Amino acid sequence: MDLELENKAVLVTGGSNGLGRALCHRLVAEGAAVAFCGRDPERIEETRAALEAEGGQVLAVAADVTEHADLARLLEGTLERFGRLDGLVNNAGRGAARPLLELTDADWDEDLALKLAAATRLCSLGLEALSRQGGSIVNVLAIGGKTPGSGSMPSSVSRAAGLALTKALSKEAGPTGVRVNAVMIGLVESGQWERRAAAAGTSLDALYEDMARGSGIPLGRVGRAEEFADLVAFLLSPRAGYVSGAAINLDGGLCAVV
Ligand SMILES: NC(=O)c1ccc[n+]([C@@H]2O[C@H](COP(=O)([O-])OP(=O)(O)OC[C@H]3O[C@@H](n4cnc5c(N)ncnc54)[C@H](OP(=O)(O)O)[C@@H]3O)[C@@H](O)[C@H]2O)c1
Repeated sequence: MDLELENKAVLVTGGSNGLGRALCHRLVAEGAAVAFCGRDPERIEETRAALEAEGGQVLAVAADVTEHADLARLLEGTLERFGRLDGLVNNAGRGAARPLLELTDADWDEDLALKLAAATRLCSLGLEALSRQGGSIVNVLAIGGKTPGSGSMPSSVSRAAGLALTKALSKEAGPTGVRVNAVMIGLVESGQWERRAAAAGTSLDALYEDMARGSGIPLGRVGRAEEFADLVAFLLSPRAGYVSGAAINLDGGLCAVV
């Protein structure tokens, strides 16, 4: 299926590693221009070089999404370089799950700033450019936002707020031709798990097997980053032209609700 993404411009936060990076590769393969950010300059440079080696039109920006000025610079740079914005993927994030009594005010502030405030701010900044020719926003969330469990805060709370943002904004932005959807991740291979395996001195395959077994994923394995990229590329594309306000699970059947 031709996703009709050729020469479209997509901005991906946290595109320098893991799921975001897999998405950038997929978008380049589809002929889209890609702007991405991250904080670590080495990872950014490595990703930029890999994408350009595949023939991609790429803008790589060192930016912390929790900094207002960085977000504005990221969006301005994207528009300056590509002259348009067709897709925005709020993907930057990390795991954060502990019992309430172990969390400090700073933990809450940090998580909400990274997972909620950054996404709302970037949506505000990008909406006008997206509406010029119609566009698509994808918020990358986690299934804990639908089924918050014991010891799952602050992430499950931030992600539930991301769900509300997705639905509310889909109603507001729909009349301007902008679709807004969320992808609810279960457990998917990515950089964060590579770092965890290295820190624990265990093999990545063993970690993924343990995760699949321990969490009881019905499909019996963790997801692949390319499967994430396929789904998000579809949601960004005109092929998903009538899909808006949806929160799609990418979890091998793990989530207890649809
Ligand atoms: N993989 C899973 O199983 C899973 C499960 C549930 C939810 N998710 C969500 O999916 C998204 C992608 O996760 P991942 O697994 O691909 O993680 P990852 O491999 O750790 O990649 C995260 C990316 O986000 C960037 N990032 C983190 N904080 C940032 C900040 N403040 N400003 C700018 N960039 C930032 C990282 O680069 P720098 O560190 O260099 O900034 C990196 O490029 C996250 O929102 C995560 O919470 C993933």
